[in-house]
Amino acid sequence: MSDLNQLDNETIDFLTSRRSTVARMMGGPGPDDESLREIMKAGMRVPDHGRLTPWRFIVIRGEARAKLGEVIASSFKTKKPDAIEEEIEIERERLSRAPVVVAVISKVRKEHKIPEWEQVLSSGAACQTMLIAAQSMGYAAQWLTEWYAYDADVKQAIGAEPGDEIAGFLYLGSGVGELKDRVRPDYDEIVSEWAPA
Ligand SMILES: Cc1cc2nc3c(=O)[nH]c(=O)nc-3n(C[C@H](O)[C@H](O)[C@H](O)COP(=O)(O)O)c2cc1C
Repeated sequence: MSDLNQLDNETIDFLTSRRSTVARMMGGPGPDDESLREIMKAGMRVPDHGRLTPWRFIVIRGEARAKLGEVIASSFKTKKPDAIEEEIEIERERLSRAPVVVAVISKVRKEHKIPEWEQVLSSGAACQTMLIAAQSMGYAAQWLTEWYAYDADVKQAIGAEPGDEIAGFLYLGSGVGELKDRVRPDYDEIVSEWAPA
């Protein structure tokens, strides 16, 4: 570290204390057009080996949440024909928990010399960067997949092409109620220093 002041740094303070807000504890407002654009611009600025841009962002907001919610509910009913109406309603309302949802599509070029794994990692980086960007602006945000990120009907409805995966749905809104932190990993269990034998 070249300058001790780097330890007294707002970004580090934010990164070492930020947390997600569970979607069921979100309300409005969500990011407006300008904020959302900034959030997604941050998401496009992630490391991307080979400059393949192996991700796409699909904004779901307003009425579109309920429309896609119908697809989620209908697929749920097909998968669980014995489901009761209350359970189906939960599925129908999934995307309406937050004012804005961004679906992040991982678009891997399988035959490319850049390994698939690295292309997938870049989508994860895009998700986390947008999460951080939104939280840094004061929005509540959560990265979820739940079951419907893996559902063929939902993927098709959202415009995913064969081979695409949904890296996550980023729920963006404002927090309602108090946020509790979760237990975080123990530093010494995670970090070790390699030493030559
Ligand atoms: C790829 C991915 C998918 C996730 N899907 C879910 C999910 O379906 N349900 C859930 O409760 N948490 C899910 N999470 C976890 C939450 O996003 C998050 O870890 C938790 O809310 C705490 O976040 P924080 O460490 O930012 O505070 C997922 C996380 C990742 C990275």
